[in-house]
Amino acid sequence: MHIIHTIAQLRSELGSTTPNGKSIGVVPTMGALHDGHISLLQSAREQCDVVVMTLFVNPTQFNDPADFLKYPRDVARDSLIAENAGVDFIFAPAPDEMYAQGFDTVVSVPGLSNILEGASRPGHFDGVATVVTKLLNIVRADRAYFGQKDYQQLQVVKRLSADLNIGTEIVACPTVREPDGLAMSSRNVRLTPGQRRAAVVLSKALFEARKSMQAGEMDAVKLAGAIAKTVSDEPLAKLDYAVIVDPENLKPLTTIDLTNRAVALIAAKFGDVRLIDNIELFR
Ligand code: PAF
Repeated sequence: MHIIHTIAQLRSELGSTTPNGKSIGVVPTMGALHDGHISLLQSAREQCDVVVMTLFVNPTQFNDPADFLKYPRDVARDSLIAENAGVDFIFAPAPDEMYAQGFDTVVSVPGLSNILEGASRPGHFDGVATVVTKLLNIVRADRAYFGQKDYQQLQVVKRLSADLNIGTEIVACPTVREPDGLAMSSRNVRLTPGQRRAAVVLSKALFEARKSMQAGEMDAVKLAGAIAKTVSDEPLAKLDYAVIVDPENLKPLTTIDLTNRAVALIAAKFGDVRLIDNIELFR
C-alpha cells in the first residue's frame, strides 16, 4: 500500500497501475476509521481492481472551527486498518493541496442541503459537495462508495454526480450497527457510558417505526410522531428532528403507499454529541 500526498503523484501512480482497463474504486473518508468504513473498503475491494482510500479532514465542511480541531486524527492507525482491508493507495493531501491559494469555487446542491442536517449545520453540505467533487475529479474512479448512514450526504453526492456528469458510479452501502443497534459513527467514542447506553434509543425508535409500518400503519406523520416520542422519552436525548421523507428529494411525506418508498431520518444530541440515523421503510 502506498500513501500519496499530491494530486500529481496520485494521477501518475493510477495512470501506470491501471493502463489496461482495470477498474478503480474510491472510498472518501476523513479517517477515524471504524467498521462502517471497513465495510465500504471491503465492497470496493470485492468490486474493483484498484482501491483508493482518501483521507482528508475537510475544513470547509465544519461550520464550527472547534469541531474541526477536535476531529480525531490518527494516520498510523487508519493506515494499518486500510492496509488490512486491502487498500492499494491512500490519498492523504495537505489542506493547501486541496485548497490552493486563490481557491474560490463552491459546489452547492441547495434543495437537498439547506434542510435537516443542513439547517443545523449551515454550509456543511456545500463543503461536502465541493470536496467530494474535487476528490471524484482527482481520482476519476469507476465507483465511489458512501455509507447510507449519512443519508442526506449520500443524496447530495448522487445529485451532484448526476448533475455534473462526473461519470463515477455512486455505490450506497448499508449502515453497519453495533450489536445493540447503534449505528457506527466516528462520534460514538465521544459519548459517556451513560450517553452510549441511551443512544440506542435512536435505532430502537426506527426499528419500531418499521414494524408499525409493516403492521399496516401508513400515516407518515403518525409514524414520525411515534419516533419522536420514543426518543423524547429518553432523558439523555435531545431530539432535533424525526421525519419520514421521500428518499430522493428528502421532502416530508404525509402517507406511505405501496408505490412510494420512504425513509425515516432522525437526529438527536446526547450532551454535545450530535448523532444521526435512518431506516428505509419497506412494506
Ligand atoms: O463522510 C465523510 O467522511 C465526509 O463527509 C466525506 C464524504 C469524506 C467528505 O469529506
